[in-house]
Amino acid sequence: MEKLEQQPTEVKVIDHFNALTNSVIAMLVFGRRYANEDKRYEKFLENSKFLFDVGLLSELPFLFPYLSKLLSLLPMTRKIVKTVQDIQTFIEEEITKREALISSDADAEGTCLCDAYIIERRNAEAKGDFETFKKFQLVRVSMELFVAGTDTTAKTLEWLMIHMAAFPEAQDNVQEEIHRVAGTERQPQLSDKAQLHYTQAVIDESMRFASLAPNAISHRAIKDTYFRGYLIPADAAIVPFLYGLHRNSKYWKRPHTFYPGHFLTEDGRYAPSKMLEPFCVGKRACPGESLAKLEIFLTFTAIIQRYRVRFSRDYETKVDDILRGVCGLARDAGENRLDFVRL
Ligand code: HEM
Repeated sequence: MEKLEQQPTEVKVIDHFNALTNSVIAMLVFGRRYANEDKRYEKFLENSKFLFDVGLLSELPFLFPYLSKLLSLLPMTRKIVKTVQDIQTFIEEEITKREALISSDADAEGTCLCDAYIIERRNAEAKGDFETFKKFQLVRVSMELFVAGTDTTAKTLEWLMIHMAAFPEAQDNVQEEIHRVAGTERQPQLSDKAQLHYTQAVIDESMRFASLAPNAISHRAIKDTYFRGYLIPADAAIVPFLYGLHRNSKYWKRPHTFYPGHFLTEDGRYAPSKMLEPFCVGKRACPGESLAKLEIFLTFTAIIQRYRVRFSRDYETKVDDILRGVCGLARDAGENRLDFVRL
């Protein structure tokens, strides 16, 4: 918010949102934040962005295992492998630092997920159990949280800003509702949420319309399975088509229009829909859903309470391209800049 005050025009919002969401994840996982000018952090963001941009390409060896030898010869595959290794090295270095910190203090209680894991491992090893906790497990969990928890929430917030700029009437309604419920001085809180019917509908509609993870993550059937009369053979790859679900006219009155009414009753109350599944479904659905929803609600309402969002002058004529987006693993908004006018 302070940065927006200093430079409210021509804002590349995704950079601010990445810094915000990564701070939250970094605090949870490593008990620290990274300064924007930290080169290793910048490299992590660049690597993470690359993995999202290459999209389904990074899943090809998984989808077609019999081609994996051939695929491994392609320069792009080698770049993907190198990028994952770089991220892993960054994470391993951070874990090593936490290990040094914890081992210097036998009574340390820990302040983050990494500390908690290291302490549990130390306790288990003191009892002769060297199997339950493995460093590699901690590396993978931390990596997944870092990669999956930074860009996704940041891009969802970026889409919300884009939708507010593109659909000013919806922005008027959200602003009016936030001012009526929380006023203009104190920041909106989670306790306001139940009264912010239209705002909640706009957040859901933005997630539906954007469909950030159009194909979620590919899965594989581990055994022959019958589903609604269809056989899904063992080993079949399954790609959940969330974009299709979110644009299906069977479930949505105006599938290709930004229409918050999809989540409102006739008398204007918030009505969540079971057909909105941006976090996918089942046992491997996104574990970060509640954290993401919390970050999105608090950030979105705090910004719209104070600022009018609109496209910067050079982008006013590119709204269709921005809304069409660019599809990788995530469906990104097109290149954009926004102006924030203090209310
Ligand atoms: C609005 C933000 C987010 C969206 C739209 C989103 C969406 C998704 C989707 C669609 C999947 C694939 C699930 C599947 O295929 O079954 C997924 C997986 C995952 N997400 Fe999220 N996510 C978001 C935020 C987060 C956050 C904040 C975290 C971390 C705190 C996170 C951590 C993960 C992890 C670790 C997985 C892999 C789960 C597994 O393989 O079992 N996500 N997410």
